[in-house]
Amino acid sequence: MKKNLLFATLFLSFNTIFAQDFVNKSLQYSTGQVEKALALIPDKSKDIPRNINSTTTKWRYVDFRDWTSGFWGGTLWYLFEFSKDEKLKNEADHFSRLLTPLAYEKAFDHDLGFQIFCSLGNGYRITKNPDYKKIILAAADTLATLYNPKVGTILSWPRNVAKYGGHNTIIDNMINLELLFWASKNGGNKKLYQIADKHAETTMKNHFRPDFSSYHVVVYDTLTGKKIIGQTHQGYADNSMWARGQSWAIYGYTMVYRETKKAKYLDFAQKVTDIYLKRLPKDLIPYWDFDAPNIPNAPRDASAAAITASALLDLSKMIPNKAKAAKYYTTAVKILEELSSERYQSRATNSAILLHSTGHHPNGTEIDASINYADYYYLEALIKLKRINKL
Ligand code: GLY
Repeated sequence: MKKNLLFATLFLSFNTIFAQDFVNKSLQYSTGQVEKALALIPDKSKDIPRNINSTTTKWRYVDFRDWTSGFWGGTLWYLFEFSKDEKLKNEADHFSRLLTPLAYEKAFDHDLGFQIFCSLGNGYRITKNPDYKKIILAAADTLATLYNPKVGTILSWPRNVAKYGGHNTIIDNMINLELLFWASKNGGNKKLYQIADKHAETTMKNHFRPDFSSYHVVVYDTLTGKKIIGQTHQGYADNSMWARGQSWAIYGYTMVYRETKKAKYLDFAQKVTDIYLKRLPKDLIPYWDFDAPNIPNAPRDASAAAITASALLDLSKMIPNKAKAAKYYTTAVKILEELSSERYQSRATNSAILLHSTGHHPNGTEIDASINYADYYYLEALIKLKRINKL
């Protein structure tokens, strides 16, 4: 056995033993937190927990139209998957079905993918309920109405065309391609695959700087499809590396490779990952923007860490280079271990699962907060780790 392969194998075995302890414990802890949060919801016919700001212990609730509405249902599905508790299944079903109208209305924006696939998508994966499948397929067709073939991407924010001066696509939009890929192979229109593939290819070409860090927003001429400019929206500056944006890129290209098996995406997923890993602080939890001016006193973004950990577990299984695969896997485990520590778990502080995420720093909102998508991707990653290690 080659030396680095032996090292990688030893490292993986060590991490299997090591993972055993905190994974089940953290899932157990998360189940308890979510049960507390469920009991606090004022009106389950409309209120969906979104965040808890650092100055309070109270949830802020949103309705099904909010971009984060699917993460709560998804969280409940992951915890049902872990606990097999029928009560959680009923809650997951209820909070997922709340989003149904989104699939049949005119598309508001690209977030439809997050909303429907994280909730009903997980519901269908686990239960194979045909009701869910019907809604997911309808949502994929609705999302596809935002595609502009001249540009080769989905219009992320129809409401912001005038503000940005053209067809805008944001890096977050990569995640929503999963809905299109899924629909194309589960009875939906085959063209949805081409749309998703083309979006990923166009974004790969236009959305990244030479060091493979991502712009948040790219604006295109709606009619000619020509790129106009790369900008930020939730990052520190147009040329800074917004942490969650880079995490969306890592997760997005890993998923696109899984769906297409095109080598260019696997190569690209590693490039966008490597710049992120290279610039991380020692504890592997990024500041909200890698170029924030007040590092090391800048707020962190636990959500970016959770998204990245989930993607790294997949990426580590896909790449042929064993030493590099071991590095990705080990990093994912270390990130999850840090998120599972008293530094990041909310515990007695509030009834969310994690602390210290940053939603929209330039807006002054959700800074150093508990946010439902951090919890969702944390659970997703823990469930993956549990599955990989048969825990
Ligand atoms: N998709 C919006 C965000 O990541 O904040």
